[in-house]
Amino acid sequence: MESHSEDSAAKLLRAQTHTGNHVLKFIYSMSLKCAVDLNIPDIIHEYGKPMPLSKLIASLKIHPSKTCFIYRLMRILTHSDFFYEHDVTENELEVRYVLTDASKLLLKDHPFSLKYLPQFALHPVIINSWFQFSTWFTNEDPTPFHTANGMGFWDFAAHEPKFNDLFNEAMATDSRLVSSMVVEKCKSVFEGLELLVDVGGGTGTMVEVISESFPQLKCVVFDLPHVVGDLQETENIKYVGGDMFEAIPHADSIMLKLILHDWNNEKCLKILSNCKEAISSKGKVIIIDMVMGNKKEDRELTETEIFFDMVMMITFNGRERNEKEWASLLFSAGFSNYTITPTQGLLSIIEVYP
Ligand SMILES: C[S@@+](CC[C@H](N)C(=O)[O-])C[C@H]1O[C@@H](n2cnc3c(N)ncnc32)[C@H](O)[C@@H]1O
Repeated sequence: MESHSEDSAAKLLRAQTHTGNHVLKFIYSMSLKCAVDLNIPDIIHEYGKPMPLSKLIASLKIHPSKTCFIYRLMRILTHSDFFYEHDVTENELEVRYVLTDASKLLLKDHPFSLKYLPQFALHPVIINSWFQFSTWFTNEDPTPFHTANGMGFWDFAAHEPKFNDLFNEAMATDSRLVSSMVVEKCKSVFEGLELLVDVGGGTGTMVEVISESFPQLKCVVFDLPHVVGDLQETENIKYVGGDMFEAIPHADSIMLKLILHDWNNEKCLKILSNCKEAISSKGKVIIIDMVMGNKKEDRELTETEIFFDMVMMITFNGRERNEKEWASLLFSAGFSNYTITPTQGLLSIIEVYP
């Protein structure tokens, strides 16, 4: 009887720890954003060797009364693998920090820098949407973003140039990494194409990298007028403003990178049927998006997929899809066949044929 109640107490305490841990998970992301705001990854990088805490503190533009708190900020970020303690020592001020692979990606000048990701994902406009999550369940708004900001994401971006620039920068950094990887590892996807339209192509980062590797390929970046309006065309890249729900420029191939996960099935069917009209019978649509559940054994990847699915629901009324859901969508839009090539990261390439 006694041991039974001890078990129950242990279970309760474990449940309490589990709940506390999950309620407090935002502390990881806010601490990371704080470190990026304070420029900590770049300061450690520029030091060129393991950086003692005392030197790090001396390099930061912070109020003298706050220097004693930096060790604790660094401790949580070391725990979450963004920094590494070079020589573990009892004396806090002698602790020396180096970057990990994850914090190297937050450096300003890293070619695939993700420095805008925390700035965008933790922007008050986005965070306020999360505060409206439960209210949204009780009203008719399409997304918590609507409830928080009085309009949908794309209208908001069109009216707020600074927010729009931050979003486009965050997307462009993702595209730099994905495009280099796709061009290197999945060259065959683009071989033999003559004209590629990148629908919802943002500021054109993806096609810039593709067209460097395929100089014979003509590319069109098609996006909303406020996104492409001021961009200068080059010999191989044209920018066209428009609405993909109205019509899409004709091409032998169309790319949709991180577009369909922004929309519900009904809107995706409209986009896909406009794509089908825009390509010839020998053309194809190249979807670069997530296929959920492909690598269930990878817990961190699965968690990230689920996080993204929630972000799509809260922000855009969109969703991430598993292979069955993709197949159903593509066949409902009238396409006859598709192939999926997973990449090593979160995204897959789905080549879709009429
Ligand atoms: C998630 S972003 C993806 C950007 C880019 N493909 C990438 O992966 O970096 C979605 C893009 O769709 C564009 N978009 C939204 N609604 C659109 C519409 N009705 N017609 C054309 N583009 C649209 C947005 O402006 C934005 O650039």
